[in-house]
Amino acid sequence: MLFEGLELVSALATLAACLVSVTLLLAVSQQLWQLRWAATRDKSCKLPIPKGSMGFPLIGETGHWLLQGSGFQSSRREKYGNVFKTHLLGRPLIRVTGAENVRKILMGEHHLVSTEWPRSTRMLLGPNTVANSIGDIHRNKRKVFSKIFSHEALESYLPKIQLVIQDTLRAWSSHPEAINVYQEAQKLTFRMAIRVLLGFSIPEEDLGHLFDVYQQFVENVFSLPVDLPFSGYRRGIQARQTLQKGLEKAIREKLQCTQGKDYSDALDILIESSKEHGKEMTMQELKDGTLELIFAAYATTASASTSLIMQLLKHPAVLEKLREELRAQGILHSGGCPCEGTLHLDTLGGLRYLDCVIKEVMRLFTPISGGYRTVLQTFELDGFQIPKGWSVMYSIRDTHDTAPVFKDVNVFDPDRFSQARSEDKDGRFHYLPFGGGVRTCLGKHLAKLFLKVLAVELASTSRFELATRTFPRITLVPVLHPVDGLSVKFFGLDSNQNKILPETEAMLSATV
Ligand code: HEM
Repeated sequence: MLFEGLELVSALATLAACLVSVTLLLAVSQQLWQLRWAATRDKSCKLPIPKGSMGFPLIGETGHWLLQGSGFQSSRREKYGNVFKTHLLGRPLIRVTGAENVRKILMGEHHLVSTEWPRSTRMLLGPNTVANSIGDIHRNKRKVFSKIFSHEALESYLPKIQLVIQDTLRAWSSHPEAINVYQEAQKLTFRMAIRVLLGFSIPEEDLGHLFDVYQQFVENVFSLPVDLPFSGYRRGIQARQTLQKGLEKAIREKLQCTQGKDYSDALDILIESSKEHGKEMTMQELKDGTLELIFAAYATTASASTSLIMQLLKHPAVLEKLREELRAQGILHSGGCPCEGTLHLDTLGGLRYLDCVIKEVMRLFTPISGGYRTVLQTFELDGFQIPKGWSVMYSIRDTHDTAPVFKDVNVFDPDRFSQARSEDKDGRFHYLPFGGGVRTCLGKHLAKLFLKVLAVELASTSRFELATRTFPRITLVPVLHPVDGLSVKFFGLDSNQNKILPETEAMLSATV
């Protein structure tokens, strides 16, 4: 009995000693980790390094970032200020908020900073992409790619985009159950990118498979760059390989079959434009280029489309005002008509209130948190040194959230962009959903065009109601989206704008 008691005491003492040692080891390694990064300050500069925490050895604050969502940036900004340091996705990072600070970063491209996305993003997207290229290569790539988004090109995509959106809304309205808007918006923007933008005629089943792989790719684009079995990064690499195979097949088939096309799609324009600029693209460049276009178009635009629908649900008065504007311009049409070709860029450009609604969605629910850069030479921000070799991320969302030019910054109020108020006119860098400087989003006019057509079609042909008691929570990685999607019941409208109840069950899940 006495021996048993002694054994128990000795086991407890060993356990306690182990716990104390582990805690001490963790505390010491964390301290060394902080010192390791403090030592990388530029000693030739008198300014201090920004405040903040580098988290735990190797993983830094990646876990906090993934778990806390929008709270991560705001809690640290409140604690440390507009410029703070952290360690995310395997590297030291200074996160920056506020128009003046952001201006310095965006205008400093090529001399103060240069683009550098996290390693996982760079490796998964590939070296040949516009977003990953720098200097003259970047300038030339932008020239080649910008033709895809010219006024003429957008006008030619418009009827096709309208048709894809009409078909989708018809399917949503005839579905007897509520639909998961975020999931379906992803399918819609994926379909738009594959069928309209790239002109691929991939069979429906293959498209469904490609969509699943694409989701696996996007989910792991921001992951710890550790290539181990079952790691997110490994899943991303596998998805990239499968996608590249699928894209190569689609590109080869497309190049062989040019008949039956009534418009030039982005891939046609890209191939033509690269020839004009004296540098025909290789198959690898074409695959990386198309992968980037789908990636850039699909997740961001699906996020914005979901936010648009959520805001129209939350603010019926905004939807009604939009319908009035469309009615006044003779654009509000009732469902049932195959209206391909009824919209033009000029018509959409004249819809002032619609423009305000889209701008406000992009202000409050900007899909991308910000952009990543690496520091080429030490510079100053807000009294701190931003040392050469570190990474910086300019924050779009936080800059919007803290911009003094916006009255009642958290309120959804499209009229703030009306001609009378134009709250965004003071200071270009307070409002930057599409970034700025030489890396401004190449596809911003296409994205806005898509969102405007979606809003016109929603206002014209659908009634929609939230199918849950409350609106879902929002998360930010990889792009802003509702946590469990957004559950909404759609109804078609007859010519008197009354609800049509669904008769047939559309197989939504079977089609991408
Ligand atoms: C609502 C939708 C979209 C949003 C919010 C958005 C946002 C952005 C932002 C903020 C950047 C700059 C990133 C940086 O500073 O590093 C960017 C870059 C880019 N975007 Fe978009 N984007 C959208 C849609 C699109 C679409 C539809 C395309 C093309 C089909 C596209 C293609 C690109 C490309 C190629 C770049 C890289 C530009 C460069 O590095 O020079 N985006 N986008």
